Amino acid sequence: MGFTVNPISPVLGAEVTGLDLAEPLGDNLIGDIRQSWLEAGGLLVIRDQTLSTEQHIEFSSRFGPLFGAPNETPLQDTVSRYLHPDHPEIYRVSNQTENGEPQGTPKGRAGAGTYWHSDVSFKPRPAAASILHAIEVPASGGDTLFCNLAAAYDALSDAMKEMIGTLSAHHDFAQTAATQFAKPIVVEDDLKGANRAVHPVVRTHGETGRKSLFINPGMTAGLENFDADESAAILGPLFRHATKAEFCYRHRYAQGDVVMWDNRSLMHYAVDDYGDQPRYMERTTNIGEVPV
Ligand code: SIN
Repeated sequence: MGFTVNPISPVLGAEVTGLDLAEPLGDNLIGDIRQSWLEAGGLLVIRDQTLSTEQHIEFSSRFGPLFGAPNETPLQDTVSRYLHPDHPEIYRVSNQTENGEPQGTPKGRAGAGTYWHSDVSFKPRPAAASILHAIEVPASGGDTLFCNLAAAYDALSDAMKEMIGTLSAHHDFAQTAATQFAKPIVVEDDLKGANRAVHPVVRTHGETGRKSLFINPGMTAGLENFDADESAAILGPLFRHATKAEFCYRHRYAQGDVVMWDNRSLMHYAVDDYGDQPRYMERTTNIGEVPV
């Protein structure tokens, strides 16, 4: 199966056509997809896919172990209510309820990821790829913004690169919980060890060898060994720099898009601007390596 890859923005991302992910995919083809993904700066938009949940999981598992898979780390207790009831590998993002009633059981997490973040960066082994299948998309709105943290790193001055090159940062789900989750939803155990980690501020991508910033406003609680004011004085300008429009791409979904992003070198922000228009996404999350 040949496929076509076209860049979708100068700074990151490529659109793929001519692939059917529901077909059995050989190792060479998976290798080609992985290569295209890395060359596109870690963002591929694979168009026109009709996938069952099982096929989505099967495709995703070719890129590494999945959070929630048998014998693997679960994503998180706090979001367990949003996981697919039969497939804990699938995190559901939706503003709909199961029976359509306003007070019904949520079909997924509404307004998920409405802040700049890299998925589960607070884990000792944060996410590598996240693979999202756009099943129902609003007529307008519900885009996701992505920013390229490797391009942002490259554009820093040499003096700044030298200064931050030896720093580490605390990533903590408590930071996310405080701003993004209504209190009763947060499972207390999630505020303990498994969702806290210290990672280098600059990480080197395990596959491309490229350096990138590895901090995000949603989950990075502060710099190791710095007090809160000092930490904010360094992190604030870095966050502003990383999210400059020049480093960003805004994805407008079409139904059937499979969007694959690399949390090791990108941040993303899901725009919550679509009101009651139905939006339903299913996402898998690959377990990445310990950042170095
Ligand atoms: C997320 O995974 O952070 C949500 C992405 C989206 O719904 O666009």
